[in-house]
Amino acid sequence: MISVSIQIASYLFASILFILSLGGLSSQESAKRGVWYGIAGMIIAILSTVLGPNISGHIYIVIAIAIASVIGILVARKVEMTSMPQLVAILHSFVGLAAVLVGFGSYLDPHTHQLTGAAHSIHLVEIFIGVFIGAITFTGSIIAWGKLEGRIRSKPLLYPGRHMVNILLVIVCIILGAVFAMATGTGGMVYLIIMTAIASFIGVMLVMAIGGADMPVVVSMLNSYSGWAAAAAGFMLGNDLLIVTGALVGSSGAILSIIMCEAMNRSFFSVIFGGFGNTPTGTTKEITGEATAIQHDEVTELLQNAKSVVIVPGYGMAVAKAQFPVYDMVDTLRKAGKEVRFGIHPVAGRLPGHMNVLLAEANVPYDIVLEMEEINDDLPETDVVLVIGANDIVNPGAEDDPASPIYGMPVIQVWNAKDVIVMKRSMATGYAGVQNPLFFKDNTHMLYGDAKASVDKINGYLKA
Ligand code: TAP
Repeated sequence: MISVSIQIASYLFASILFILSLGGLSSQESAKRGVWYGIAGMIIAILSTVLGPNISGHIYIVIAIAIASVIGILVARKVEMTSMPQLVAILHSFVGLAAVLVGFGSYLDPHTHQLTGAAHSIHLVEIFIGVFIGAITFTGSIIAWGKLEGRIRSKPLLYPGRHMVNILLVIVCIILGAVFAMATGTGGMVYLIIMTAIASFIGVMLVMAIGGADMPVVVSMLNSYSGWAAAAAGFMLGNDLLIVTGALVGSSGAILSIIMCEAMNRSFFSVIFGGFGNTPTGTTKEITGEATAIQHDEVTELLQNAKSVVIVPGYGMAVAKAQFPVYDMVDTLRKAGKEVRFGIHPVAGRLPGHMNVLLAEANVPYDIVLEMEEINDDLPETDVVLVIGANDIVNPGAEDDPASPIYGMPVIQVWNAKDVIVMKRSMATGYAGVQNPLFFKDNTHMLYGDAKASVDKINGYLKA
């Protein structure tokens, strides 16, 4: 068992490791180191909490940790990279649920009611706010999981006056909070339960109101909420490390949300209040022209004749696990003296940085991986763009069709290049569920089939 001072020192050390971890995760080169800092910080945090003063029943804690670790390892090993957002969403829901349970436990704890005066009132406020944020995070994350997993339709559930209803519900919660704080003993339990039910409903409605293409912002927003829920739990338990860690997650999640909002041209405040997605106006522009198919040997010829090539990867590249043959192709083309670069959209795939992770996995050099703003200006001078399993992020409707649900979202303007090859299996829509006029443009050629199989075939032709 360790003393209070050793525990405090360990908490401080773990906090520093968490900060270093976040710093490390901010760039691909240092990301692995960042993960190790995080793991080390978490081990120190768990050990110094479990071995700390006033903790009993170690055997139960060890059993719980062992069971949870086995489940965690099995799930992490099994989960596909493309399903990571769902996993992240469901893990956020656990944080929310934990904050709710800690709040209930803390309220029922006799020590809470031995407190007097301001200390008692402050603790009750901590409990109420912690449970409120936790309940919203819990149900909101479950709905986000359902939408990402395709179990709940991604179309936003919008009804007139929904913002008013949400505001009224929050006001009811504030009134319940006042009554709760005035109750004696555990007499406020009923108000706490009613508020939990209302907050759970708010969580459901906030995320239900958000449409498919805007889900990236929701995932990072829930990440932030889960951090604040953990910080609130830290206040309830009087655990400084949990407060620091929760604040780190809460603020970094909020910063990520702001970055995502900017990337998607959405307002940050309307995200927090839910249902912020563009309400499409008018009817969708009619698509004219015909989609033309192309064969692998013809694509190879276009590539051989090109001086500059830009590759725009999307979710389909992740599904097909095509990053390795893609890099093989890039390597062959670069050796043949061509300029080959990648254009990465901030919400390509299903996770922030999804494409960067895949390309790093395939050892693609960082200096040829450019961001959307960097590549867009060069596209008119590009000979061939290969769109590999991407759809929404290259949809021109986002720029010129006010009726499109993704109208306003900046996209990679691939249609400005001389030739565009789109590799996908069919004419199916992307995540946002909208048809893509790009496929019908004169300079676009559709190469149907699984992205990996297609790139493998092109590699075969290039090498022959
Ligand atoms: P999507 O718009 O989802 O399009 C992916 C395309 O890949 C699909 O149209 C699909 O067409 C194709 N595809 C699937 N499997 C394939 C395979 N094995 N081989 C070849 N093609 C395959 O992807 P995107 O362009 O990357 O855009 C991302 C979307 O997800 C955006 O709407 C974004 O808002 C949303 N989103 C992003 C995130 C983050 S944080 N990145 C999180 C949640 C949601 P076929 O079926 O015809 O093959």
